[in-house]
Amino acid sequence: MTSCRICASTVDEFYDFGRQPLSDAFPPVGSEGQEFFFRLAVGICRSCLMVQLMEEVLREHMFNEDYPYFSSGSTVMRAHFEALAKRLVAKEVETDSPFVVELGSNDGVMLRTVADAGVPHLGIEPSSSVGEVARAQGIDVLTAFFEEETGKQVAAERGLADVVFSANTVCHIPYMDSIFAGLDALLKPQGIFMFEDPYWGDIVERASFDQIYDEHYYLFSATSVRNMARQFGFDLVDVERLPVHGGEVRYTVARQGARPVSDAVEALIAEETQRGLHEEATLTGFADRVTGIKNNLVTLLERLRSEGKKVVGYGATAKSATVANLCGLSTEVVEFVVDTTPAKQNRLTPGTHLPVRPPEAFSDPGYPDYALLFAWNHAEEITAKETNFRESGGRWILYLPDVHVV
Ligand code: SAH
Ligand code: TYD
Repeated sequence: MTSCRICASTVDEFYDFGRQPLSDAFPPVGSEGQEFFFRLAVGICRSCLMVQLMEEVLREHMFNEDYPYFSSGSTVMRAHFEALAKRLVAKEVETDSPFVVELGSNDGVMLRTVADAGVPHLGIEPSSSVGEVARAQGIDVLTAFFEEETGKQVAAERGLADVVFSANTVCHIPYMDSIFAGLDALLKPQGIFMFEDPYWGDIVERASFDQIYDEHYYLFSATSVRNMARQFGFDLVDVERLPVHGGEVRYTVARQGARPVSDAVEALIAEETQRGLHEEATLTGFADRVTGIKNNLVTLLERLRSEGKKVVGYGATAKSATVANLCGLSTEVVEFVVDTTPAKQNRLTPGTHLPVRPPEAFSDPGYPDYALLFAWNHAEEITAKETNFRESGGRWILYLPDVHVV
């Protein structure tokens, strides 16, 4: 029996993805045998309704000096975080001892703009591979995991924060009791904790099951985040739906009673209840769709192989580890995967060992017949720059919300 990491009630499993590798660990050629595997399965807490993994992976396995996800790789995401940073600086920072903290600041994609505005800031980032890139740009970075002790230490050394911001990181952290204790130590009385992560409502709608992998320990909804905040003496005071990464929600949390609760919170929770987002029928329906997508994708790729078509993957995303391993992909059906990240290139995809090549390999010696778009959340940006592929007769394979070719 698995106990909820938030409220200790029972977690009911609703999908088992089987044996999976770490989604962001790309083995160098020759070291495939040393990969770490775990059982990836997802469940829901009967009491607080938090969707969460059944098994936790040690954080040091995932976030370390080899972490290969560099946030600034997407133009759209750079613009997204620049706009957010400007808004925080304009609206949320007091003139008296201003201080902005970011958890999981990565390569500085957000804090760069805060630093440029001359606002005191600190990124808390355990993966030195990405943290060093931010530091080299003059951004203050503490190489550490945020938790209770870190919150206390930063408060003592640097003072209290107006805002603690975090993107695509809070859902990576099982130990939320320690996070909220750290926030309690670090935030000013009226300070806010703002975080954005993949939204369970969008995952259900698009059947985007590949958002489920080792790092995404929680799949948040407004309902479960409100329950979580209350559990630790905070309130969910605002929510905003975001179009990025296939659908996210930006949650604003403050100490209980410190800030008014916006109408958007009640509205989104009511919508989730009306959709039955945490109900058994929704969860079994989701599980059936995952199995259907898996079967259809395997069938399509097998057919293309038998027809002698060349298929390559586009974007060695963390998400693609779930799809590729669930479908048991091999170089027989997907020859290689192209990706712009130097730290992933000339390595192998986790578990399935497809070679990762630089983007130039996409058209060299000629375009493939089909490209399996693993980085579907960046579809607009990618299809806009790969018009030659389409014009040469190439076609995109998408697998969400169902398997289709465009
Ligand atoms: N905010 C960026 C990075 C997301 S990747 C973006 O939205 O693109 C998640 C990041 O969280 C990684 O860089 C990882 O090293 C970091 N991380 C993981 N656990 C953390 C913790 N406990 N405290 C702070 N950062 C953490
Ligand atoms: P992303 O979908 O942002 O996140 P995750 O790894 O958490 O699923 O990852 C995008 C990956 O795709 C990243 O490795 C960079 C790569 N990429 C390209 O190869 N070309 C592009 O144009 C873009 C935007 C991303």
